[in-house]
Amino acid sequence: MRTMLVVLVMYSLAVFAEAQNAPLNLMPMPASIKMGSGQLVVDPSFSIAITGHKEPRLQRAVEIFLNDLRRQNGMLPLDMKISNSATGTLLIHAESGSKGVQELGEDESYHLEIASSGAKLDAPTTLGVTRGLQTLLQLVQATPAGFAAPSLTIDDKPRFPWRGLMIDCGRHFIPLDVIKRNLDGMAAVKLNVFHWHLSENQGFRVESKKFPKLHEMGSDGLYYTQDEVRDVIAYARERGIRVIPEFDMPGHSTSWFVGYADLASAPGPYQIERKWGVFDPAMDPTKEHTYHFLDEFIGEMAKLFPDQFFHIGGDEVNGKQWDANGKIQEFMRAHNIKTNQDLQAYFNQRVQKIVSKHGKTMIGWDEILRPELPKSIVIQSWRGQESLAQAAKLGYRGLLSHGYYIDLMWPASQHYAVDPMSDAAANLSPEENSRILGGEATMWAEYVSPENIDSRIWPRTAAIAERFWSPQNVRDVNSMYQRLEPISHRLDFLGLTHNTSYVPMLRRITAGDDISALKALADVVEPVKDYTREQTAPAEPTSLTPLNRVVDAARPESDAARRFSEMVDAFVAGKPRPGTEMQIRALLARWRDNQVELQPLAEKSFLVKEALPLSQNLSTLGAAGLAALDYLDHGERASEQWKSQQLAMVEQAKKPQAQLLLMIVPAVQKLIEASAAPGAATASNRVILSDQR
Ligand code: ACM
Repeated sequence: MRTMLVVLVMYSLAVFAEAQNAPLNLMPMPASIKMGSGQLVVDPSFSIAITGHKEPRLQRAVEIFLNDLRRQNGMLPLDMKISNSATGTLLIHAESGSKGVQELGEDESYHLEIASSGAKLDAPTTLGVTRGLQTLLQLVQATPAGFAAPSLTIDDKPRFPWRGLMIDCGRHFIPLDVIKRNLDGMAAVKLNVFHWHLSENQGFRVESKKFPKLHEMGSDGLYYTQDEVRDVIAYARERGIRVIPEFDMPGHSTSWFVGYADLASAPGPYQIERKWGVFDPAMDPTKEHTYHFLDEFIGEMAKLFPDQFFHIGGDEVNGKQWDANGKIQEFMRAHNIKTNQDLQAYFNQRVQKIVSKHGKTMIGWDEILRPELPKSIVIQSWRGQESLAQAAKLGYRGLLSHGYYIDLMWPASQHYAVDPMSDAAANLSPEENSRILGGEATMWAEYVSPENIDSRIWPRTAAIAERFWSPQNVRDVNSMYQRLEPISHRLDFLGLTHNTSYVPMLRRITAGDDISALKALADVVEPVKDYTREQTAPAEPTSLTPLNRVVDAARPESDAARRFSEMVDAFVAGKPRPGTEMQIRALLARWRDNQVELQPLAEKSFLVKEALPLSQNLSTLGAAGLAALDYLDHGERASEQWKSQQLAMVEQAKKPQAQLLLMIVPAVQKLIEASAAPGAATASNRVILSDQR
C-alpha cells in the first residue's frame, strides 16, 4: 500500500513537473523567461490600453496584433478591442516613439508580464512593443479554461540588430500579395530586414521613371510600380521591418541591357536571359556614361527606398566581356589596373561615391571586400564565413548569409547549427565581433514560384530567425524541432501557404484523382540538395520551365521521414517508447504497398509517371525494413548474403529519381544492419518486452 502511495505521489509530482516544464511554443526563444502560476484568459472581452507614448505606428501595430489574435483564435471582428480608457486586459507602455525611417540598431527590447489578472507590455520604443506583441501572440492557445496565455515574465532583446530575409524577385517575379504575406511571416519571428533582390539577368523588377526601358523591356511586364514599392515599404514599416533594395551590378545585369545596351561591355543587342547560371554580360566600368546613368538611377531609387542602406550586389562577375573588349583592356593598361578584380574594385569605388552622394550606405556581396573602399560599407558574406571574419578584422561591418541559403534545401537543423560568430569568426576581438551585424536567409528563386515559395521559406526560416534573435546558447535541436511545428501552424493563420499549397499541388499532379498514394510518397521525399537540381535535370531548366512537378511540391524537409528516423534510432538503440515497433511496421507496410496504388495514376498523368521509379524504391525499402524487423523479432540473425543484397538495393535507393531523394533510406539501412549484427537477437528481445509493457 505504502509503495503504491509513493508511486502515486511520484507520478503526480512528475505530471506536475511536466506541466510546469511544458515547452512554450515560442520561436525565437526569448532571452529570459520566468514562469509564474495560473494563466490569463483571452476571450472576446479582451482589451488593450495604450498608456505611454502614442503614435500612429503603435496604434497600427496594436490593430495588426488584434487582427492576428482574432484570426489565430477564430474570433470575430468585433471581439477584442483597443480600450479608450487607461484600463484594459493588456496595458502597453512605450517610452518613446520610433524613428521616421527605421534604423539599424534601434532598441527592440521589451518586458512582458502576464498574470491571471492582466498583462503588461513595456518597451523603450514602439519597435519593442511590436516584438513583444508577437511573443504574446505565440503564447495564446486553447486550454481547458478557454484561450489563454500562461502567467510569466519575459525580458527580451535581440542578439543581432540585422536579421534578414532576402527574396530574389529577379529570376521569378514574386507578386505583391506574396511579398506581403511573407512580411507577416517575418514579423511573426521577429526578422527586421527585407532584402529585396530586384534585378537579375532574368528580370528587372522596378518601375524607373528616369529609365523606363529598364522595366518595360527587361521584365516581361512583371515589375513593381513605384506606388507598389511604397505600399510594401509602408506595410513592412508597420511590422518593424526595414526594406533594402538590391540592384545587382556590374554583373547579373543582362535585363538592364535589353533597353540600355550601351551600359554593357559588349555591343548587344540583348535579350532577357532565360537560363540559370553565371553569364558574361557586365556593365562597362571604363565609360563615364555608365556612371552618369548610375548616378541618375541610384538617385531615383535612393528617393524611392528610404532605408539607409543600398545594396549594389557585386557578385559573380566572370570578366569575359571585359577580357574581350579592346577599349577596356586599353583603359586597364592606361590606369595600371592589373586584374578584373581590380577593375571591379575601381567600379565599386565609383559606385560607392554615387551611393554616398545620394545619402546611402553601400552594402554588397563579399566580392566587394577590398581595402580601397571606405569602412562605412557593409559586406554580406555568402562564399564562406572567412570573408565575414576578414571584413570584421579589416574594420568593416558584415552580415552572414553563407549557411543560410534556403534554396539549397537543407534541413532546418543544418541552418540552425550555423552561427555568425562561429567558424572563422569564433576568435575575433570584442570590437571585431561588434562589427558582425547579423545575417540573412536568402531565397534564390531559380525554382520558386508564387505557389511554392512559402514552402521554401517556411518554416525553416523561423529556425534561422531564432539563431539571429536568441542568445547564442539556445542551440538544442530537439527543442527547435518541437517548437518549429506549432510555429509553422501559426503561420498558416497569417495566410502563408507553405502547408496549404501542398495538397492542391498534389491534386493537380494526380489530375484530380485521390492523392493518398502520391502523398504517402511525397511526404517522405525531399528535393535534391545544394546545386544538384541543375545537374540532374531531365532538360536544361529555364525561367520558363513550369514548376508543377513532384519536386516542386515536395517540402525541403520531410517531417515524416525525420520522425521515422527518430523512431528507428530509438528502436535500434533498444529504447523505443511503447508501440514504436508497431508504428514502424505500419509505416513500412504502407510504403511497401503504396506502389500498387500509385501505378494506375501514373498511366493517367505524366507528372505521376515521373515519380514511379521512386515509388518502386519506396516499396522495396518498405519490404526490406519489414523483413529486417522479422529477423529481429524472431531472434534470428540475418545472413551476410541477405544483408549485402539489401544494402546494394539501399545504395540504389539513395540515388535521386525525378530530382527527389527518399529520406527514409538511412533509417531502413539501420534496420537492415541491426538485423544482421551480432547480438541482434538479444537486443530485439529487450525491445519486444518493452513494447509489450
Ligand atoms: C550569390 O549567391 N551569388 C550572392
